[in-house]
Amino acid sequence: MDIQVAGRLNVADVLANPKEKVVRQAITSSGWAKAHPGTIDVMIGSPSAINFDGPHPSVRDVWKLEEALATIENDYDLVLIDCAPSLNALTRTAWAASDRVVVVTEPGLFSVAAADRALRAIEEIRRGLSPRLQPLGIVVNRVRPQSIEHQFRIKELRDMFGPLVLSPQLPERTSLQQAQGAAKPLHIWPGDSAQELAADFDALLERVLRTGRITAPDEAPRP
Ligand SMILES: Nc1ncnc2c1ncn2[C@@H]1O[C@H](COP(=O)(O)OP(=O)(O)OP(=O)(O)O)[C@@H](O)[C@H]1O
Ligand SMILES: [Mg+2]
Repeated sequence: MDIQVAGRLNVADVLANPKEKVVRQAITSSGWAKAHPGTIDVMIGSPSAINFDGPHPSVRDVWKLEEALATIENDYDLVLIDCAPSLNALTRTAWAASDRVVVVTEPGLFSVAAADRALRAIEEIRRGLSPRLQPLGIVVNRVRPQSIEHQFRIKELRDMFGPLVLSPQLPERTSLQQAQGAAKPLHIWPGDSAQELAADFDALLERVLRTGRITAPDEAPRP
């Protein structure tokens, strides 16, 4: 995301002490904003966040990120929380801070099964912890349109999850890996391949902004 981390705090500090002052010191501006109008900020990650990933988080722990983000969320139109691909304490902490969950999957057998597990887990958290939480949809990534197996799995996803399967689906593209490797936004990467994929991401963002903004801030339950 093209950020400078020197002298800043990070998400582990925020989880330890979710006060506005700490939150603001853990956020920095992204160099990606150079290619875009508007603001793109990043809360700095840290391997130390694993210390908050114990098997039995308390209810208070699970709401820490929500508490932290509530202090600054009015500054932003959209907050994306990138989770590890597991349903552990940190993911539940992220979901407690969220209105909607986007599940990213690939058109393969194990990925389809994992998407199913993720949606069940969202439902469980919605019932037990956070009534406002809902799945926003499933993004299908790394699609090879010529693959019969991929076509079969995409149909399986549609049969299982219906309109939750979002369009467009994202193709497998080397240009994404090149842009990632150079730590540059896909949107400024040269070539038609990168620009087509960038347009797909724009269409998904449009969809997220349109359907995601359902809960007004005063309706959002607080711990
Ligand atoms: N559409 C795509 N086309 C080509 N490569 C892709 C695509 N999507 C992801 N990749 C590649 O797959 C790898 C993993 O991608 P990414 O980091 O986005 O996945 P992740 O699920 O968030 O992984 P992690 O579990 O490590 O967080 C990266 O090398 C990335 O470049
Ligand atoms: Mg990741």
